[in-house]
Amino acid sequence: MNPNLAHLFLTLFLQIITLHVAGDSPSVYKPVDDITLQCGFSGDQVNQQDGRTWSGDINSKFSPFQAAGSSSVYKAATPISSSSQVPYTTARLSRSEFTYTFPLTSGQKFIRLYFYPTSYAAEFDRSKSLFSVEAGGFTLLRDFNASVTADAFSSETVSREFCLNIASEQSLNITFTPSRASPDAYAFINGIEIVSMPDNLYYTSPQSADGPVSVGSINPSRIENNAAMEMVYRINVGGSQLSFNRDTGMYRNWDGIQVEYNYLDDLSKNFSVLPQNSSIQPDFSEIPEYSAPEEVYRTARSMGTNKTINKIYNLTWGFPVDSTFYYFVRLHFCEFEGDVTLPRDRLFQIFISNQTAEQMADVITWSRGNGKPVYKDYVVFVPAGAGSKKKVHLFLALQATPKDRLTNYNDAILNGLEIFKLSDSNRNLAGPNPDPPPPPNIAQPESPKVSDKKSIPLLAIIAGVVSGVFVLASVFGFLVFRRGRKVKDSSSRQGTKWGPFSSATTKSTKTHRSSLPSDLCRYFSLAEIKAATQNFDSVFIIGVGGFGHVYKGNVNMDGGLHPVAIKRLKSESSQGAHEFKTEIDMLSQLRHVHLVPLVGYCMDDGEMILVYDYMARGTLRDHLYNTDNPPLPWDQRLQICIGAARGLHYLHTGAKYTIIHRDVKSTNILLDEKWVAKVSDFGLSKMGSTNVSQTHISTVVKGSFGYLDPEYYRRQQLTEKSDVYSFGVVLCEVLCARPALIRTAEKKQMSLAEWTKICHRNGKLDQIIDPSLRGKIGNACLKKYVEIAVSCMHDSGIERPSMNDVVWGLEFALQLQQSVGGDSNSNDEMGGGDDIESVTGSDVGFISWEESSELKKSRVSKTSSDHNSTTNESIKGMSGTVFSEINDPNGR
Ligand SMILES: *[C@@H]1O[C@H](CO)[C@@H](O)[C@H](O)[C@H]1NC(C)=O
Ligand SMILES: *[C@@H]1O[C@H](CO)[C@@H](O)[C@H](O)[C@H]1NC(C)=O
Ligand SMILES: *[C@@H]1O[C@H](CO)[C@@H](O)[C@H](O)[C@H]1NC(C)=O
Ligand SMILES: *[C@@H]1O[C@H](CO)[C@@H](O)[C@H](O)[C@H]1NC(C)=O
Ligand SMILES: *[C@@H]1O[C@H](CO)[C@@H](O)[C@H](O)[C@H]1NC(C)=O
Ligand SMILES: *[C@@H]1O[C@H](CO)[C@@H](O)[C@H](O)[C@H]1NC(C)=O
Ligand SMILES: *[C@@H]1O[C@H](CO)[C@@H](O)[C@H](O)[C@H]1NC(C)=O
Repeated sequence: MNPNLAHLFLTLFLQIITLHVAGDSPSVYKPVDDITLQCGFSGDQVNQQDGRTWSGDINSKFSPFQAAGSSSVYKAATPISSSSQVPYTTARLSRSEFTYTFPLTSGQKFIRLYFYPTSYAAEFDRSKSLFSVEAGGFTLLRDFNASVTADAFSSETVSREFCLNIASEQSLNITFTPSRASPDAYAFINGIEIVSMPDNLYYTSPQSADGPVSVGSINPSRIENNAAMEMVYRINVGGSQLSFNRDTGMYRNWDGIQVEYNYLDDLSKNFSVLPQNSSIQPDFSEIPEYSAPEEVYRTARSMGTNKTINKIYNLTWGFPVDSTFYYFVRLHFCEFEGDVTLPRDRLFQIFISNQTAEQMADVITWSRGNGKPVYKDYVVFVPAGAGSKKKVHLFLALQATPKDRLTNYNDAILNGLEIFKLSDSNRNLAGPNPDPPPPPNIAQPESPKVSDKKSIPLLAIIAGVVSGVFVLASVFGFLVFRRGRKVKDSSSRQGTKWGPFSSATTKSTKTHRSSLPSDLCRYFSLAEIKAATQNFDSVFIIGVGGFGHVYKGNVNMDGGLHPVAIKRLKSESSQGAHEFKTEIDMLSQLRHVHLVPLVGYCMDDGEMILVYDYMARGTLRDHLYNTDNPPLPWDQRLQICIGAARGLHYLHTGAKYTIIHRDVKSTNILLDEKWVAKVSDFGLSKMGSTNVSQTHISTVVKGSFGYLDPEYYRRQQLTEKSDVYSFGVVLCEVLCARPALIRTAEKKQMSLAEWTKICHRNGKLDQIIDPSLRGKIGNACLKKYVEIAVSCMHDSGIERPSMNDVVWGLEFALQLQQSVGGDSNSNDEMGGGDDIESVTGSDVGFISWEESSELKKSRVSKTSSDHNSTTNESIKGMSGTVFSEINDPNGR
């Protein structure tokens, strides 16, 4: 067989296997109605995340109806960081009522509404939207203030999911009405989705004698077809987020532990554990297979293994909800632990809204065996809270049976949950708008002055395959600087007892940035740039690379002077103005809380200048080794890794194109003043290759030694798995606090990747862990972390996890760490290792943070088109040549 074909088959085969194992099975339910409407758009657009096509409403059969004389306008939104941009890219806005009519089959449907509150044009100010939405005779939203709702959740976008029944073949009207409460209020909508659901998935079947348990009353209740519901929480308890495409065909989103954690009470945070059984194939004999994705049933939260502790606390979540509504609560269970197989093995009580919902919950009895998913439904009324509180908590508490003789394990378990608000007697589902978030905290004292940082000149290493084409040396790690602008920060996870109402905060990839000008990437005049750098005075140079110099400067922004990093590309670079502009357009659209934002650019007089945000705390490496900075605690390192992993995940999947970073390393992960990790240098490596033919692009190996994916090096084929490899090396750096490559070290220790693998194989990890972390990492956490790192560095790309899996794995590791309270019982395992010493003169990488002027002077930057594939990092003045990423040739 043709080897390529063979490879293709193998790939497909492996994918099928992986899919199967991961339970990413093809949808088990096929909706009859499946409408995705992108409002204010003409034509079709594909959402990169779930691969679904959204059709524009302009001049389509779904064009909304509007009374004569009134009209709506369509606008494109500025790009946002949200990983699923479609349908948020355009909106329909109007100051008068408009109605969409959807011809539908009869049956129960999901109606999903998508809003991205932003200022679409001068006449549609972000804060002025205020409107009601009605559908099928139900009020879904009333005087809905989209901007404050998004702000309260620290999110850029707001989406709502409703369920309602279409009685007989008829059309459904969805009407948007601007509020009369405010004179210049307008209504808007970005996307509408209507998807059929299986009969009586949530609604009570007419044939069924009883519906959900009515908590606090003896009569069971029923969810009748004449009710509408709004989904308020849907969580894969103890597991990772499962977004739309991982659902069973209904495109439901399941939040993961990142969100769930916010709602846990402190004791539960401290003591509960996260059992999982990734090998189990759930047996859907009790409930339909489409009820929830298999993954929901493979992970759970339980109380822990210590009976004594389990008896002194309740596993408790508190969910903020609107008061004076009935709520439908569905709890998903599956016993998958090998030792829980018999009735009464794990017996517990369930309290919902402080009332007994189950006296003797026994999953094995309900499901008739281990490995069989089951769910239980409840309806509860949530009364008004004390005072004028808009939101009250709906508590869910699981209490282990205290009596030892009744049960084997005094423990409780939950795998997943869904909470819906039920329409009231006025056919209303709308609640009040949330309160605006509290003003941002006064910023912590300024971070240490940049000049205090010990300078660490670093060697540059160039890897490459010769190509005869001159390429603009792609740019080097940029120094990015803090800008004074305050970005509303999402409140900290562990902040308050119940997690703030801004619960969704940790969907943090959507941090709100209302202060962003609508034009995301600003044009700076050359005069401004010259003023900021005193005409490119060399005293402002803070970095030198093959592409040119990096200056530190202050520019006028948002009415104040702000420090920025100004990267001036060399004029002799081959990149034409047009290509440059194209790249800028692309880079400026990459917005994510974990990416360093491009602030602006300048192209006057043939200059090619990029302006970046300033990152106050420098690079991740600055906090790991060869530094005077104090060592970071383990939790914080994990948080930083999670952030960086999210940034890379966004590059790989969230943007319009898959973007492969190509130069992931600890110096390309920067930290802002709040210690939020930001990936830098993305997209730039591509910049160098615009003039190169396609074939060349794939043969130009870029990257830094120590981090370079061996498979990429061998096969010269770039995939996002190369980034995964490099990220694995970063994870090792974070754990071991040593460089990726130590040329002076003994051979087997030279490469951190290899050394880690060897130590992992031989069970000698204790030899390499950062001494300052000894005894501080829980065993389970360490195990998981190293497992992720090693899997990232698998020789074969196909075997490496995706960045999404990495994010989830790290979150899981963090959770494991937090559940042991940061203490470890593992001193003996980690103690007594040899310190890694003499890490001198051997760094790999290229960012130097504020170097001394002597060093700066000693820097030479040539532009020779070096056609040599040498990787000799000791050559001074080696330059931005072909394929190279980097050029900071100064050794120490
Ligand atoms: C929406 O809420 C915000 C915050 O409370 C407020 O400033 C704004 O005026 C509200 N918009 C309207 C149209 O009422
Ligand atoms: C839907 O809206 C259209 C236009 O406003 C109206 O003619 C029609 O009667 C409405 N249908 C229903 C079922 O309300
Ligand atoms: C359970 O926890 C209690 C209280 O912390 C402790 O005293 C006891 O030793 C633990 N039991 C086991 C078996 O670990
Ligand atoms: C668990 O919750 C129930 C119901 O709210 C309460 O009666 C019980 O005291 C709680 N147990 C503990 C240990 O907090
Ligand atoms: C996972 O499930 C399988 C099949 O039921 C079982 O044999 C195994 O013991 C379970 N693993 C764990 C870790 O509980
Ligand atoms: C309801 O239960 C939660 C936790 O179980 C507790 O914090 C809260 O105080 C209880 N509320 C009332 C009114 O008893
Ligand atoms: C939870 O654990 C943390 C850290 O170990 C501790 O500071 C805190 O007091 C614990 N909280 C409770 C309620 O036990």
